Amino acid sequence: MKNVLIYCRAGFERDALAEITDKAAELGFYGYGKPSDQQGFVVYHTNDEDGGEKLIQSLSFNHLIFARQIIAVNDVIDFEKGGRVQALLEAARSLPLAEDIWLETADTNEAKALAGLIKKIEKPLREGWKKSGLIRKKAVGVRHHVFFMEGDQAYLGVSYASCRSEFPLGIRRLRFPAKGPSRSTLKLEEALLQFVPQKTRERDLHEGMHAVDLGAAPGGWTYQFVVRGIHTYAVDNGPMQKELMNTGLVSHMTEDGFKFKPPVKVDWLVCDMVERPILVAELMAKWLSEGWTQRAIFNLKLPMKKRYQEVDQCLQLIAGQLSQKGLRYDMQYKHLYHDREEVTVCIMIR
Ligand SMILES: C[S@@+](CC[C@H](N)C(=O)[O-])C[C@H]1O[C@@H](n2cnc3c(N)ncnc32)[C@H](O)[C@@H]1O
Repeated sequence: MKNVLIYCRAGFERDALAEITDKAAELGFYGYGKPSDQQGFVVYHTNDEDGGEKLIQSLSFNHLIFARQIIAVNDVIDFEKGGRVQALLEAARSLPLAEDIWLETADTNEAKALAGLIKKIEKPLREGWKKSGLIRKKAVGVRHHVFFMEGDQAYLGVSYASCRSEFPLGIRRLRFPAKGPSRSTLKLEEALLQFVPQKTRERDLHEGMHAVDLGAAPGGWTYQFVVRGIHTYAVDNGPMQKELMNTGLVSHMTEDGFKFKPPVKVDWLVCDMVERPILVAELMAKWLSEGWTQRAIFNLKLPMKKRYQEVDQCLQLIAGQLSQKGLRYDMQYKHLYHDREEVTVCIMIR
């Protein structure tokens, strides 16, 4: 497959394209794409017959900011009336075998209007796939995706477990907790699930740890630590939710988050202050370089146009400062489903 299809939040197509173009070039792939505004996806074309597959197999999902999902595809398939399953089956002959097939659309209202069609076609398509031997249990980690753009147009592609989202449409849906102080709580919950994998969660996120939350009020992010039994210094002039304070696990510090110094070294620093991204990046680099925290999760707010460039600049600044100190670290980043005009970064010192 020649091309790469990336699902993203509607309105972020240019950023997703700028990013994949940059990352592809770093890996020696050259190509092009045309972003269409508000479509919730972008296609990057390479000239190599296997360029799309090779590219997605060289990338790491948590090191792609704007991709909610990433799959290798050929050119778009146009259906004759009524011939959808047949056309897709024919196109599938050039695909590697898969363990499953997902039928999806972009995350836009227009695309979601295709839900009825998807429901109708899912059973015959799945049966066709099974009969043709395209689905095999042993094809572990390979998934086929049909991405409908219109009733008569779709991309057919493949994803690999090494670089993809495990959620339909690349969306991790979370339920708002009844006692959550603000909707923002879902941002940190999603970030913790995305960046702290199950296998290291016991080591990296456990009861008895200490955290600092800069720009904490009314407490949505602090809540995520409190439910995990983590003591949190909540730094904000604004009021914190009463129930959260009653847990005894929160120390409310009415101070400036840019000047606050923790009374003890902490395990986690989180920051959701609405400030210029570069100032937040400098602050995070300082905390990590000084050893005030071992881990940080923070949002970079992006009201500007060139969002990819802005984030890239921030990440480079932090990477430069940590390397200068001789620190070894893991840095991950993603425009999460619960994020809006912002992206989330996670850094852990090794
Ligand atoms: C987006 S809200 C945080 C929401 C919070 N994460 C939650 O989940 O409930 C941003 C907060 O940052 C605080 N803030 C902005 N600048 C700050 C600063 N310099 N020091 C401390 N807090 C600041 C604001 O008072 C505001 O409460």
